[in-house]
Amino acid sequence: MSLYSLLKRRRMVREYQPQQVEPEKLERILEAALSSPSAGHSQGTSLVVLQSSETRQAIAHLAGESDWVARGYPAWLSTAPVHLVLCAEPEVYRQRYKESDKESAIKQWPVPYWHVDAGCLMMALLLAAVEEGLAAGFQGIQNLPGLQSLLGIPPEVEVLGVVTLGYSQSQRRGHSTGRGRRPGRIHRDRW
Ligand SMILES: Cc1cc2nc3c(=O)[nH]c(=O)nc-3n(C[C@H](O)[C@H](O)[C@H](O)COP(=O)(O)O)c2cc1C
Repeated sequence: MSLYSLLKRRRMVREYQPQQVEPEKLERILEAALSSPSAGHSQGTSLVVLQSSETRQAIAHLAGESDWVARGYPAWLSTAPVHLVLCAEPEVYRQRYKESDKESAIKQWPVPYWHVDAGCLMMALLLAAVEEGLAAGFQGIQNLPGLQSLLGIPPEVEVLGVVTLGYSQSQRRGHSTGRGRRPGRIHRDRW
């Protein structure tokens, strides 16, 4: 599929069929994620790939899925056959930027590049999922310390949220998309 078609088709999907994701598809999607750009090629972003039903149910519970379902939203995390927990390691960037090809160790980061890079990685995942005939979504998790401890993620690693992956069960669009497109975001020549 062309890049423009992928961009057009991509939606955050919040309901999945029980069908498993084929291992070769998952591997290609992970490979796409690892080829995303990173500041200084630091590559300080990572994923925890979860397929065990027990762990996925635990994450759904931690995210308060039953409360959302009671309010009329679809069961999301518990239905997705794969969870990819998006992580960033600021220390990898701090070390990389001390190397000789960088001007000097950055004391005050003007921009946390690890967040920018995690966004790039996530977009690669989302688009690769569509290319594979799958769907993906991102859920922000309020209880990040709970998720961190559930998965044994070390304290120096920042957990950013969960990307869900699987075969789409619904074409239903998220309610926020009704907001339409915000005008005036492209500034030409000057802000
Ligand atoms: C950083 C980020 C956080 C998001 N967090 C959530 C979330 O916690 N729950 C949710 O339902 N959607 C979440 N979304 C999905 C957005 O609501 C969605 O991308 C937006 O409404 C546009 O819809 P589309 O991606 O289907 O085009 C998040 C998206 C991003 C990029």
